Amino acid sequence: MSTSIESSTRPAPSAPLLGFWYPAMLATAARRGKMRAQVLLGLPLLICRDSHGRLAALRDICPHRGMPLSFGHFDGTRLECCYHGWQFDMEGRCRHIPALVEGSPIQTDKIGVTTYPCEERDGYVWVYLSDPSEKTSAAPEVPRLPLLSERYRRLHLSTALRCAIDDGIVGLMDPAHGPFVHQSAWWRSRDSIHEKAKAFEPIPNGFRMKAHEPSRNSALYKLLGVYGERITTTIDFVLPNLRYELVTCGPYWFSSRATVTPITEQECRIDFCAAWNVFRWVPLATTLFRLIARHFLNQDKRIMERQALGLRYKPPLMLLDDADTPAKWYYKLKAAHLEARQSGRPMEHPLKGPVTLRWRS
Ligand code: FES
Ligand SMILES: [Fe+2]
Repeated sequence: MSTSIESSTRPAPSAPLLGFWYPAMLATAARRGKMRAQVLLGLPLLICRDSHGRLAALRDICPHRGMPLSFGHFDGTRLECCYHGWQFDMEGRCRHIPALVEGSPIQTDKIGVTTYPCEERDGYVWVYLSDPSEKTSAAPEVPRLPLLSERYRRLHLSTALRCAIDDGIVGLMDPAHGPFVHQSAWWRSRDSIHEKAKAFEPIPNGFRMKAHEPSRNSALYKLLGVYGERITTTIDFVLPNLRYELVTCGPYWFSSRATVTPITEQECRIDFCAAWNVFRWVPLATTLFRLIARHFLNQDKRIMERQALGLRYKPPLMLLDDADTPAKWYYKLKAAHLEARQSGRPMEHPLKGPVTLRWRS
């Protein structure tokens, strides 16, 4: 790749992508017989889990006069609005309007609240936010964290992030901030910067950093070294907001996924989910992983929130080859996806084939 600097290549922030599954909340937060409000992509949602454990996602707005339904009551079967007592079932159909007199011509079941496809996977409640311009109405499969064996441990972490979605995602895939943002005595210092060359290839809706040996100064490399097996890491980015990392070491594996989900225009949430079969014999391994992951997540959160303070002044930005090339690909993928939706043609992938990027980090 040629080395060039592009100024102001960051496109104007566009609306978050519709037509994808987004993690709404932890599955454990959606308790049986309870409802919980959650804004996603600026849309007010209400997640209900009925008394049989079934999930539903509804628009958290009463069709009568706009009261958030989350202020009302859910009895495990029906939702009741707190304002005039209209009742709705889990399919969003209106079942009862207390103010109607006997023989009223109003057919309550013709009135409804918008509902969204909703599924539980990998410990999250996922909601499918369809794109009105989509031709097909069937939702694709819910994203799945790769699991390479029957037995494993798992953890979930999340943190709120005060920044716009594109900046949050670009921060997630930025390869050059490590030595500055993730400095620590036990892992790496800024003096450990060295040149890297990584091979990338296109994958559906995203790109992959092909399986490679992680750098010798990475924390994971040092930890997994005890197994004496060959260690490889594969990192995928997939629209709209998913970053997967799969580390294998002989029969051992560590699989993680980070998502940056837009809540409102200037507010996101990072959800980090990991599963592994390494170090199962180490006491408190999960606690240790949680502490390490939390530490990294907080470092990323802090740096992205500080950057957001500068971005408020809408400065022109530079995206540098090759270190910022993944960021460029993200913007191009997003634009290609939107173009395909608008034109009805298949998406033209911005990556035409394998590419090697070089940078120092
Ligand atoms: S606003 Fe909900 S019943 Fe009137
Ligand atoms: Fe980071």
